Amino acid sequence: MPPATPLEMSRTYEASPVGPVASGGAAAREGGAALARPDAFGGVLAGGGLATRPGVERSAAAAPPAVIASDAGVIGQSDQLSVFRADLFGALRTRAEACRRCRLCETRQRVVFGEGSTRPRLMIIGEAPGAAEDATGLPFVGEAGQLLTRMLVAIGLSRADVYIGNVLKCRPPANRPPAPDEVVACRPYLREQIELLRPELILLLGNHATRAVLGTDRGITSIRGRLATSPEGWRTLPTYHPAYLLRTPRAKAEAWLDLKFAASILGLALPPRDVARPAAAEQEPTGP
Ligand code: URA
Repeated sequence: MPPATPLEMSRTYEASPVGPVASGGAAAREGGAALARPDAFGGVLAGGGLATRPGVERSAAAAPPAVIASDAGVIGQSDQLSVFRADLFGALRTRAEACRRCRLCETRQRVVFGEGSTRPRLMIIGEAPGAAEDATGLPFVGEAGQLLTRMLVAIGLSRADVYIGNVLKCRPPANRPPAPDEVVACRPYLREQIELLRPELILLLGNHATRAVLGTDRGITSIRGRLATSPEGWRTLPTYHPAYLLRTPRAKAEAWLDLKFAASILGLALPPRDVARPAAAEQEPTGP
C-alpha cells in the first residue's frame, strides 16, 4: 500500500472525530506500516498540496515553503484587533513574570513564559522548565529542547514558526513533576496564552501537558496520536515528550507518525529527507 498523502490523512482527520482511543495513532489507522519508517524525524511524505499565502512566516532552510502562520490567526483581520491582542499578550507576559501564585516563585531564577510566533497555526505545550530553561528564560533549550527543534525541522518548521510554551512557567526544584496545586495556579496563564494565540492545533507533549489541557487521567501511551478536543474546544494532538524520547528511542517511530499527522492536519508538505535529517541526526538511535 503506498504511503498516505497529507491530503488523505487530512480526510482521515475529518472523518475521525475523537473517539475511543486505541494505540497505534492516526497514521497507523491509515495503514501504518507504510508510514512507520524506522528513521524517526527524517524522511519525506509523498504528495500533498501546499497553500501559500503572502506575508506569512516560513520555515527555515531549503525545505518546501511550509506555511505555518495563519492569516486568520491571533491577529485577526484588522490591525486594531492585532494591536489589541498583542497588548494583551504583552500584559499577560508581564503578569506571569511577576507571578507569586505558588511556591515555585521562591526557587525559580527566571519565569519561562514561552516563545515563538504570536500568529502560530501550531502551538506546542510541554511540562515545565528545566535547568537550562530556568537559567535562560526560554522554553525547550536543553537536550529535550534540541530534540524538539529537530522534530520541528523534520516537518519543515523552525521554532519561530510555532509557539512553544509549558504547563508550568517556573521550574520545579530538581525537575520534579509538577504538583497538582502548581498546575491549578499556573493554568490561567496557559489558558490565556491559548485564547490569545488561537492556534489551529496544539501539540501536547507528554502526560502533564495532556492532563492539564484535556483534563484526562489517561496515560500518554494510550491517548497519543489521536486528535482530542479540550473542554474549551481547542483541537489538540497528544504525543510523547521529547525527554521521554531521549530515554526511550524506540518510541521515536510513533512520535514521527504523530508529527506527520500534525503536519498533514495543517496541510504542510514535508521537506526532503536531507533537509529534515542533517548528518548529526543520522547518528541518533532510531525506532524499531
Ligand atoms: N521540558 C519541558 O517540558 N519544557 C521545557 O521547557 C523544557 C523541558
